[in-house]
Amino acid sequence: MYIIELSQQENEKLDVLLRMLMGKYSLPCEERFLLRVRAYAAQLPTRVLLSLSEFKYCENHNGTLVLRGFHIDDAGIGQTPAATSKEIDEGSARREGFLLMLLISQVGDAFGWSCQRDGALINNILPLRSHEKEQLSTGSMIDLDWHTEEAFHPFRADYLALMCLRNIEQIPTIIGSIQDIHLEQETKKLLFEPRYLFQMDKNFENEHLKSTLPQSVLFGDASAPYVKIDPSFMQAVPGDEPAREALRQITQEFNKSLYELVLRQGDVVFLDNYRVVHGRKAFPPRFDGTDRWLKRVNITSDLRKSRVLRQHHSSRMIVIT
Ligand SMILES: [Fe+2]
Repeated sequence: MYIIELSQQENEKLDVLLRMLMGKYSLPCEERFLLRVRAYAAQLPTRVLLSLSEFKYCENHNGTLVLRGFHIDDAGIGQTPAATSKEIDEGSARREGFLLMLLISQVGDAFGWSCQRDGALINNILPLRSHEKEQLSTGSMIDLDWHTEEAFHPFRADYLALMCLRNIEQIPTIIGSIQDIHLEQETKKLLFEPRYLFQMDKNFENEHLKSTLPQSVLFGDASAPYVKIDPSFMQAVPGDEPAREALRQITQEFNKSLYELVLRQGDVVFLDNYRVVHGRKAFPPRFDGTDRWLKRVNITSDLRKSRVLRQHHSSRMIVIT
């Protein structure tokens, strides 16, 4: 895992850029800004630009990059919201939203799902009162089991970015990397074969994508595989014992390799969703405006691959009907 720590001088330079953007644009997800975001991002600190480029193009790391120490005005961002919606998610902590979109532009394009807060490109991750015991990013009282983000979906994110706005109780994010696990050759071979059924999240069911065909867990290069896995919502094809055992083994290996990352206010972590799994430890929510608050962006390297489910070429929302 690489950690780049921002200096005071770099923060001051960023502040000038963010002030200018906030004067010129109303929201960080508006189309006018997103069309120009890469040009503005050239003004990000050079160290930040280089680290993001290396993260994207060099896969000799474990798939996690932390940019640490962005200045965040705790009073300025306001209380941790008590609800989620496209308007709240994209409009809250506006300054930080602009920063997040500048950063992610160096890795790919932000996209949203119509079934997740109406396609919001920035999602607030915070505890919601009715979700305390749910396996959701808005849950709290139970562990969020580790997983590939939207493992079941062909258009899932290539990368995720999580910006920490508040984490007073130091609730850890759980991370595991395919690079850190060992698999026997025979196990690996089985996992490369289409012998697994991924359970599609009910919210995502779509007539074009009735995902009932078996798929592989590993894909890409056999010597440095990519992975899609969500043990709580998948299984080997019924009756396929060798495949079931291989899934058990990779799950066990990931369990052994997991580590905790406590995000601090002003951290932005990039996760390679093809090489890294993530989850979260349980925590008691307070619902008093000071709970853990992250902002998440789903990032794709290739917006075109989802064109069949986007209503317009310039839309960044994948429509699930
Ligand atoms: Fe997730």
